[in-house]
Amino acid sequence: MTNTPSSSSSASTRRAFVKTAALAGMGIALAPRLAAQVGGRRRRYAIVGTGSRSRFYQGAIEKNYADTCELVGLCDLNAGRLELARQRSVTNGAKAPPAYAHTDFEKMIRETMPDIVIVTTMDATHDDYIVRALEAGCDVVTEKPMTTTAAKVQRVQDAVERTGRNVRVAFNYRYSPARTQVKQLLMEGAIGDLLSVDFHWLLNTHHGADYFRRWHGEKKNSGGLMVHKATHHFDLVNWWLGSNPVEVTAMGKREFYTPEMARRLGLESHHERCHTCPEGDKCTFKMDLAANAGLKALYLDQEKYDGYHRDQCVFNPRIDIEDTMNVIVRYDNKVTLSYSLNAFNSWEGYQIAFNGTQGRIEHQIVEQIYVNGTDAVQGGISRGGISTRVIPLRGPATDHEPWVSSGGHGGGDKVLLDDLFLANPPHDPYGRASDERGGAASVLVGAAANRCFETGAPVKLDEFAPGWRKPEYVAMPGRDFPIKMPG
Ligand SMILES: NC(=O)c1ccc[n+]([C@@H]2O[C@H](COP(=O)([O-])OP(=O)(O)OC[C@H]3O[C@@H](n4cnc5c(N)ncnc54)[C@H](O)[C@@H]3O)[C@@H](O)[C@H]2O)c1
Repeated sequence: MTNTPSSSSSASTRRAFVKTAALAGMGIALAPRLAAQVGGRRRRYAIVGTGSRSRFYQGAIEKNYADTCELVGLCDLNAGRLELARQRSVTNGAKAPPAYAHTDFEKMIRETMPDIVIVTTMDATHDDYIVRALEAGCDVVTEKPMTTTAAKVQRVQDAVERTGRNVRVAFNYRYSPARTQVKQLLMEGAIGDLLSVDFHWLLNTHHGADYFRRWHGEKKNSGGLMVHKATHHFDLVNWWLGSNPVEVTAMGKREFYTPEMARRLGLESHHERCHTCPEGDKCTFKMDLAANAGLKALYLDQEKYDGYHRDQCVFNPRIDIEDTMNVIVRYDNKVTLSYSLNAFNSWEGYQIAFNGTQGRIEHQIVEQIYVNGTDAVQGGISRGGISTRVIPLRGPATDHEPWVSSGGHGGGDKVLLDDLFLANPPHDPYGRASDERGGAASVLVGAAANRCFETGAPVKLDEFAPGWRKPEYVAMPGRDFPIKMPG
């Protein structure tokens, strides 16, 4: 079931929306189109990184968009997961594509000639595959975060400039109807022009704890939650505001996922991993890989190839990422953001409030419980879990019926896939497609927050990443928006 933009919030066509249409009509490049279909043949895709997330793209190419797309190559460092992905092609009703070891990435491109490479490897390796794919003449779709550090952002942006090829960053959160509805309200000037934002994201002890079990628990792999997870959130704010971050101040700490907490929870000690844990019976954070067919096939059965354990102890001292983070960001339109991320909470989702010259939008989403790599809907929304309320400075509040649709990541996954894989995706008045400039804007906030954690000093992004190229957005109400205030 989908509510479309015909609901009450879209009734008034205001100046900002007209400006938006004009901007799109002028052909200002908000994000690039990917390699066009050549001579009527299907677009050719290769995937590097055949873990959990890759299944989303593989299924789309081989099932939903098979008329116009085909998967021609697979690449990973784990031979077992590669073979699983080949078998998945057969289950999807397609021909199993050839598989290549990570050391044969260029060979894969030479032999299979993809138009587009999809990057779904571990975060810290994204930049390397993006740059190599661009240099080999391909366009790229990369999973978030585009990369993990300011230096790597620069590397990707330089490669785009040098090669003239295109990168799309798959920011699926932008596409979920309820979040698009908030963009619509802001574009309409429902609260005048924006002055500040209060944003709090909570992760529970199922999905939240899971970051501390996997490769994500080490900053060198993921950039920590400021990059790996908050890249979604900083991107949403950048896009909602239609503005770019200028300066970041932050504090972060880890106080829950620690060896000390294991003892406070009644365990004798932290351990290496759940599968061999001597205290597994009494640990409420135990993950039993063998008990879930999907997790067993994807990870436990493939350990022999790379030694990677998907069930590392969440209290292990090897972990160096934060579980409690507070960030303040100043934007180039003078809006200030106050953001927090907490990874051991009672529920999962977020509360955000936009404070404008004419009122406030309060928006909340509560997510269902899920764990990455299982069959559960990823980032699905709880029944009745969305609320969007516009509260004028004076007068009664209006609750807006949420725009909803089913499926992963708040219903955004399907809309994103259409935008990525349809031969001619419909015009998008919200400018939801992101290229590497949008990827940069979000990674840099997280990377700057990481820098603040170390130094305690604010970070100006133009000094932190000199010369970074900034994204453009659809037009938003400006500071001259007329203020109407009933007495
Ligand atoms: N947009 C979303 O909502 C969303 C959801 C889940 C994951 N992701 C992103 O997708 C990416 C993959 O996450 P995942 O959950 O599938 O993780 P995963 O651990 O299940 O899979 C990662 C895969 O990359 C492979 N790999 C690691 N290093 C490699 C290298 N150097 N060369 C080649 N292959 C390598 C691993 O062997 C593994 O198969 C991450 O960047 C993550 O942030 C995005």
